[in-house]
Amino acid sequence: MAFDIEMIKKVYANMPARVDKAREIVGRPLTLSEKILYNHLWEGMPSQSFTRGKDYVDFAPDRVACQDATAQMALLQFMHAGKPQVAVPTTVHCDHLIQAKVNAKTDLARAKEQSNEVFDFLSSISNKYGIGFWKPGAGIIHQVVLENYAFPGGMMIGTDSHTVNAGGLGMVAIGVGGADAVDVMSGMAWELKFPKLIGVHLTGKLSGWTAPKDVILKVAGILTVKGGTGAIVEYFGEGATSMSCTGKGTICNMGAEIGATTSTFGYDDSMERYLRSTNRADVADEANKIRPYLTGDAEVYANPEQYFDQVIEINLSELEPHLNGPFTPDLATPISKMKEEAIKNDWPLQIQVGLIGSCTNSSYEDIARSASLAKQVADKKLKTKAQFTITPGSEVVRHTIERDGFIDLFDKINATVFANACGPCIGMWDREGAEKEERNTIVHSFNRNFSKRADGNPNTLAFVGSPELVTALAIAGDLSFNPITDTLINEDGMEVKLDEPTGNELPPKGFDAEDPGYQAPAADGSHVQVVVSPTSERLQLLAPFAEWDHKNITGAKLLIKAFGKCTTDHISMAGPWLRFRGHLDNISNNMLIGAINAFNQKANSVKNQLTGEYDAVPAVQRAYKAAGIPSIVVGDHNYGEGSSREHAAMEPRFLGVKAVLVKSFARIHETNLKKQGMLALTFANEADYDLIQEDDTINFPDLVEFAPGKQLTLEFVHKDGSKDVIMANHSYNEGQIGWFVAGSALNLIATEA
Ligand code: F3S
Repeated sequence: MAFDIEMIKKVYANMPARVDKAREIVGRPLTLSEKILYNHLWEGMPSQSFTRGKDYVDFAPDRVACQDATAQMALLQFMHAGKPQVAVPTTVHCDHLIQAKVNAKTDLARAKEQSNEVFDFLSSISNKYGIGFWKPGAGIIHQVVLENYAFPGGMMIGTDSHTVNAGGLGMVAIGVGGADAVDVMSGMAWELKFPKLIGVHLTGKLSGWTAPKDVILKVAGILTVKGGTGAIVEYFGEGATSMSCTGKGTICNMGAEIGATTSTFGYDDSMERYLRSTNRADVADEANKIRPYLTGDAEVYANPEQYFDQVIEINLSELEPHLNGPFTPDLATPISKMKEEAIKNDWPLQIQVGLIGSCTNSSYEDIARSASLAKQVADKKLKTKAQFTITPGSEVVRHTIERDGFIDLFDKINATVFANACGPCIGMWDREGAEKEERNTIVHSFNRNFSKRADGNPNTLAFVGSPELVTALAIAGDLSFNPITDTLINEDGMEVKLDEPTGNELPPKGFDAEDPGYQAPAADGSHVQVVVSPTSERLQLLAPFAEWDHKNITGAKLLIKAFGKCTTDHISMAGPWLRFRGHLDNISNNMLIGAINAFNQKANSVKNQLTGEYDAVPAVQRAYKAAGIPSIVVGDHNYGEGSSREHAAMEPRFLGVKAVLVKSFARIHETNLKKQGMLALTFANEADYDLIQEDDTINFPDLVEFAPGKQLTLEFVHKDGSKDVIMANHSYNEGQIGWFVAGSALNLIATEA
């Protein structure tokens, strides 16, 4: 931690002067989000303010966090940067590869056996490059980050969309793809469009059955799954400061479900209490010295309409517990209306399983309040009707709740405690009977409830609620049960009512764990060997992509002319392919298998121009590669939208595709292609898309003159010998052309290392 406090002191030392300067440049009071963003500019203060939702800005994040599924390719790439150590504090967390089935002990042992190779690789590469490594069982990335690394006013990126959870401790924390993480780990800037700002004014105070989760469930109902896109959501007001820090984390976590860039809260007493309780009194002391800079200016919160792009008001004293779902997290139903809605929509009323915990809701407070309900089962002679599971967010939480007797209380209602890992939250739940695909209802305190998300069964209706509501509903076993008004019949045939949940925000005896599961990196990692078996099917060391030979490309074949929507899922599918995320050759067998061939309207069926036969896209491309023939991919609008996964750019690069020519790109994918040394081109005249024929051979006669702002010429030679010459635009600047010349951005970093 010593390393961290020095870094934090540096961030705080600069903050007052930079924020004052930013206020001058912007010419008005500042929100907290703006203060954090302006304090993390890569190039210091600009001469004029940035335009929200428009300007691309380079930032210098303070930290990086990676989870095990995404860290594999990110770190394989980082190896090529040629750096002895990561440039900013970085951690890796093993949480996604542990399947929940029996219980924590059995499931963890099985995961270690199955993914041993991946865990060993992540452990040794972390050790080598100065990366903190959290072993399998240590906990879920976002909970561990909140407990150990998040700090008010900081900026971090993480290779997981719920990185935003750290906003609960006053950070601007943003989920990114692995390629972005590699840039920051290598000491480069990180680019983001300056976000818009949504203010959420919280008045009143939570009480009774209502929990912080209900705030975000309500916000999701208002903004919908797209409403936060391109924006930071900033919460403020007496309702915000009256809530626990971990409750704020829950709210920020689910900001991902409304598409927000991130969410955050100003520094307050609850954050100070949490920092001190998690052994970070030094961070709290430093934060206290610059307290006004770690929250929005008073004038902003007094007149939010003037300073935010959109303002939402929520009175916590009037807020009802909500259940959101099924199948989408923005279908918000207050608990008093659930009976009516469920009957109207024919949702199965019987609840099969209640699941609490996950990265979203496994704080001490969450578990304590849920345990207070579990205790009432015996006290009031009730029986729990549904199955019940708990996924603790970290070993620290698990050990502490066990010490404080909560696990015993859950045991008494036959609960299963799963490993401190993602488990059911990411579909890593081997639920008995799920393969029968029966229609059924579950309730959970996680964040996402898309079809198949928890157990793979498309007919499981999942409703998202607070852990305390989920516990009450699991006890009742009935979706239409409203614990505020309804009673249950106990073993003696008496009507009983559940008392409101209660619980401490933080453990009175402090947090504790025998072994939190952390492995510090070697002080000097130069001697550490990173071992990857050449016969592994899950991991493969990367070889640097070849430099450009400074010649024009000639004789390239058209691999595919993709028709309509072509997202990163079409280019590099997820699902079962997740297994190969660390093996570029194996995962390349999914390249473009979801894209629709414009000539036959089929997926994964393109003509091999060498044989005239139709075959799978990866197979045809491998044939061209084996014959030493370059190829190009043609696409429609917004090519590469969706996730920021770099595999969608690395796979074509690896298999020998030279250029992607489309009507328009999704921005992140275009950048990813550039970073991997590909030509990312757009039609100067969109109608030229129609000129391209199935048997075309393509030449780039003026590639040797590749320069910023200069169009490239492409000759499409058709089967009958006729030719169409078209112009292509590109958005490469001088530096990015350098990536193309070097073969990839990483090759260039490596030569500079
Ligand atoms: Fe993500 Fe849930 Fe894990 S949202 S980090 S999958 S616990």
